Order: sequence, then structure tokens, then C-alpha cells
Amino acid sequence: MTKEKKALVTGANRGLGLEISRQLARLGIETMLTARNTPEGEAATLGLLKENLPVRFHPLDVTDEDSIRHLVAEVEQNWGGIDILVNNAGIFIDKDKTALNVNSDLIRSTMESNVLGPLRLCQLFFPAMKKRGGGRIVNLSSTMGQISRISGGFPAYRISKIALNALTLMLAHELRGTNILVNAVCPGWVKTDMGGPEADRTVEQGADTVIFLCTLPDNGPSGGFFQNRKPIPW
Ligand SMILES: NC(=O)c1ccc[n+]([C@@H]2O[C@H](COP(=O)([O-])OP(=O)(O)OC[C@H]3O[C@@H](n4cnc5c(N)ncnc54)[C@H](OP(=O)(O)O)[C@@H]3O)[C@@H](O)[C@H]2O)c1
Repeated sequence: MTKEKKALVTGANRGLGLEISRQLARLGIETMLTARNTPEGEAATLGLLKENLPVRFHPLDVTDEDSIRHLVAEVEQNWGGIDILVNNAGIFIDKDKTALNVNSDLIRSTMESNVLGPLRLCQLFFPAMKKRGGGRIVNLSSTMGQISRISGGFPAYRISKIALNALTLMLAHELRGTNILVNAVCPGWVKTDMGGPEADRTVEQGADTVIFLCTLPDNGPSGGFFQNRKPIPW
């Protein structure tokens, strides 16, 4: 990878995305925060700028093809590409559902945010990453999508994370030999709007393995599912 590293984080206006951006920028990595809510994204970025961190903002709704294309064009033309992509944005909107009563719309919209968004970003960013000599793609998954431990409930969210894990493996295979390493991570149960106040981890703790994967050396692993900096079963 190039020496001067650049990272892009989706869903960076709050929660894990904001903390991941902060920790990347603290390592001296120029970091682009993206969010679908522009005022919130700009406010989050301003907060990090006040900490003297090398950050900038660009709007991005990961379910909107035009928004994705606009971002990719902006990054390539005016920022020279990226080395690190963190697919963090996600939704969990079926907390009270089971596979027996979930409706298709919930599954469809969850798949659009949690799977198709990351897929499009990987498809559109990998050529520029390749040109820069490699890259790191980190997909925010969950042990809720760990097929070896699957149980009932939360069908849309679970299916989306299982699909994201499968996508991680496929991309890792297809990108072999490019020095673009693709991995999935479960941050643990983290105190955010999604995780709730009962969660047992802070955002700082939740971001740790994400940063570990973003900064893997060139001979690092690809096609793995990680928690606490260690591989876990799919
Ligand atoms: N918290 C946990 O315990 C936990 C555990 C395992 C995995 N994870 C995963 O970690 C990631 C971050 O979770 P979190 O806890 O930080 O959740 P969060 O606090 O609910 O934040 C989710 C972020 O995703 C953004 N987002 C949702 N849909 C989007 C879209 N279409 N385009 C752009 N941004 C969008 C949200 O933006 P808005 O503010 O506009 O809604 C928000 O910034 C998720 O992928 C989640 O599945 C979390």
C-alpha cells in the first residue's frame, strides 16, 4: 500500500463508525467520515477536527446508487483513492421478529443497507485500491450471523450478516494476489444506539479489532471472521 494512508468509514456520524474514524485518524491515517445525515456527519467531523485529527466529510447513503457513485467519483478525482474501506453502516430493524412472522420488506431493506451497500462500495473502490498497491476492507458483521451458532429470532439481521460474511469470503478469494485483504469482524456487544445501554463494551473496545484489521501488514490474513483480534468460526 502507499505510505500515506487514506480510509473511508460508512455510517460515521455516531456509534462505532465515529469511534473507528477517530481511532484511524489518531494513527495519522487521513480519514473520510461518511453519513446519510449530512448535518450529523458534518457535526461529528467537526468534533474530530477540534481534536486536530486529519478528517473530512462526504455524504453517503449506502442504499442509494447515485449517492455511492457520487462519493466514488469525488474520492477518485479529488482525493486520489483510498487504502482502507470500513463497511460499518448497518440497520437492525427486526428485534421483535422471528422467521415465522418477519415480512419481506424488513428483510429487503436490511439486505440493501447491510449487504448490497458494502458490495457496491467494494466493487467500485477495489480498482483504485489495486492501483495504490493494495488495501484493507473491513466488514462490520456480528456473531448473530455466525452460522455455526445460529438460533431463532432477528431473521433479517441474521440473514444480512450471514450474507455479509459470505461476501467477505468471496471477495477475499477473488482479490487474492492484489494485496487487498478482506475480513469480517464482530465488535462484541457495544453500547451504541443499536447495542443499547446494557451492552458490555464501550465503543473504544468495540473498535479495537476493526482497527487491528484495518492496519494488517501486507502478509496479513484475508477471508477471516474476527473477534477480540482472533479468528472465530463462521
Ligand atoms: N452495537 C453492537 O452491539 C453491534 C454488535 C455487532 C455488530 N454491530 C455492527 O456494527 C455496525 C455499527 O453499529 P452501531 O452499533 O454503531 O450502530 P448504530 O449506533 O445504530 O449506528 C449505525 C450507523 O449506520 C448508519 N446507517 C444506517 N443505514 C445507513 C445508510 N443507508 N447509509 C448510510 N449510513 C447508514 C446510521 O446512520 P443514521 O444515524 O443516519 O441512522 C449510523 O451512523 C453495524 O453494522 C452493526 O450491525 C454492532
